[in-house]
Amino acid sequence: MKAAGEPEGRDKMELLDAMKKRRSVRSYSEERIPDDVLKTILEAGLYAPTSQNRKPCEFYVVRDRETLQKLAAVKKAGAGMLAVCDTAVAVFADSELADTWIEDASVALTYMHLMAAGLNVGSCWCQLHLRADAEGADAEEAARRIFSVPERFRIVGILALGMPLKETKPRTLSDRDYARIHNVEPAKPQE
Ligand SMILES: Cc1cc2nc3c(=O)[nH]c(=O)nc-3n(C[C@H](O)[C@H](O)[C@H](O)COP(=O)(O)O)c2cc1C
Repeated sequence: MKAAGEPEGRDKMELLDAMKKRRSVRSYSEERIPDDVLKTILEAGLYAPTSQNRKPCEFYVVRDRETLQKLAAVKKAGAGMLAVCDTAVAVFADSELADTWIEDASVALTYMHLMAAGLNVGSCWCQLHLRADAEGADAEEAARRIFSVPERFRIVGILALGMPLKETKPRTLSDRDYARIHNVEPAKPQE
C-alpha cells in the first residue's frame, strides 16, 4: 500500500496536468479526432462511477453534420459549438434506473471532458437540462426526439469535441479563489 500523498508515478502527474490545462474549447480545426482517441474518451465515460453502480448512462456519439446542426438548435444560446464540432457525445441517463441521473451523467461528462484535455482534444459541455430553444421549447425534449429516446431518459448535457483551432491558456493558480476553501476546526472545549 502506498502512503497518502506518496507519488504514484507518471499517471498521477498526467491526471493533474490534464486538470491544469483543461479549458472549454468551442472552436475547432478541420482535423478529425482519430478513432482510437475518440474511443479512449468514450471509455473514460464508461469508467465514471455511478451511484450504487447502477450505470444509467447511454452515450450517443454523433459525427453527422446534419444531426450536429439540429442539436445546436435545441437551445437558445451557448450551443453553437455543436454545429461546428467534430463529434458530439450526448449523455442520456435512465431516470427510472437511477434517481441520481443528474449526478451520474455529470460525472460521466466530466470524465470525458478531462480525458479529452489529457489527449489534446478540445471539448465543451453544452447544458440541455433546464434549458430551452429560441421559442421556449424544452431542450431535453427536443434532444430526445432527435435520438428517438423514451421519456424516462433524461439528459444533462452534450459534450462537443474537436481538435482545438488555437492554443488555450491554462487557468493559473491566481485564478483560484482559496477563500472558498473552509477548513473546519474541531470545536474548542468550553472553558
Ligand atoms: C454544468 C456546466 C454547464 C455548462 N454549459 C455550457 C453551455 O451550455 N455552453 C457553453 O458554451 N459552455 C458551457 N459550460 C462551460 C463553462 O462555461 C466553462 O466551464 C466556464 O466558463 C469556465 O471556463 P473553462 O472551462 O474554460 O475553465 C458549462 C460548464 C458546466 C460545468
